[in-house]
Amino acid sequence: MGVNRTCTIVVCGKGGTGKTTISGLLVRSFLEAGARPVLAVDADPNANLHEALGVDLAETLGWMREEAFTRSIPPGMDRTSYIKYRFRKVLVEAEGFDLLAMGRPEGTGCYCFPNSLLGECMHLLGEDYPITVVDSEAGLEHISRGTVRRPDILLIVSDPGMRGLRTARRIRDLAVSLGLGKTPMYLVINRCKGEKAPAEDLSGEGLPLLAAIPEDAAVEDADLRGAPVAWVGEGSGALAAVRGLAAAVLDRCGR
Ligand SMILES: Nc1ncnc2c1ncn2[C@@H]1O[C@H](COP(=O)(O)OP(=O)(O)OP(=O)(O)O)[C@@H](O)[C@H]1O
Ligand SMILES: [Mg+2]
Repeated sequence: MGVNRTCTIVVCGKGGTGKTTISGLLVRSFLEAGARPVLAVDADPNANLHEALGVDLAETLGWMREEAFTRSIPPGMDRTSYIKYRFRKVLVEAEGFDLLAMGRPEGTGCYCFPNSLLGECMHLLGEDYPITVVDSEAGLEHISRGTVRRPDILLIVSDPGMRGLRTARRIRDLAVSLGLGKTPMYLVINRCKGEKAPAEDLSGEGLPLLAAIPEDAAVEDADLRGAPVAWVGEGSGALAAVRGLAAAVLDRCGR
């Protein structure tokens, strides 16, 4: 299955709902579906998508920001070219996918080079991949700053409960206020137990359900062992559900 153009999928949701687990399983599922290479972006300041994917993280963009202004720029390079060059070096290259961690903009609360330059680097980078998966925190900070590519599809992860769904609705409203009103947004319910339906149906409010992912002992087990959850064994219910989610996303990317 192929995608003709680039497609950016942002996975967001309240803390602890399963964004990183789902992002990792999505990367795997896209690879399996032949949509490769995948760019995985960890936009959570507390980076841990690399653990879900089982790769080592050497540095984040947050760490390089300081250096870009303190270290002497190699002769023959201007600062902008240097930042672009260093930006590519933050990428972790793995089998079928690359990972980029945004990291924490420390101290001043901003990256010490212009957001526009960071945004430009992110944009150019994304052009090289048919699919970009962004593991994002609920505040959609990087989207509001323009430091990650604008999503083509926004997936809002929630648990099946009423409170979780209310948060999902608020995140949807936040996304709309950030100018994403025309971006397709879907709800992904995680940790579904048995046949129990989610507390509310938000499809009438522009948040249709794209996947229901079961509570899965294999995911829990990977977490307990510190094993990369993206590579759980066959038979995992969460993996099967995320494969279905990936197919639905690819279908929508191609439209
Ligand atoms: N379907 C599932 N079945 C069982 N456990 C799950 C499932 N999904 C997630 N978990 C567990 O829930 C916890 C939180 O998951 P995860 O780290 O993916 O959430 P998150 O939204 O990325 O959290 P944070 O907001 O801290 O980044 C982890 O311990 C994970 O193993
Ligand atoms: Mg996470």
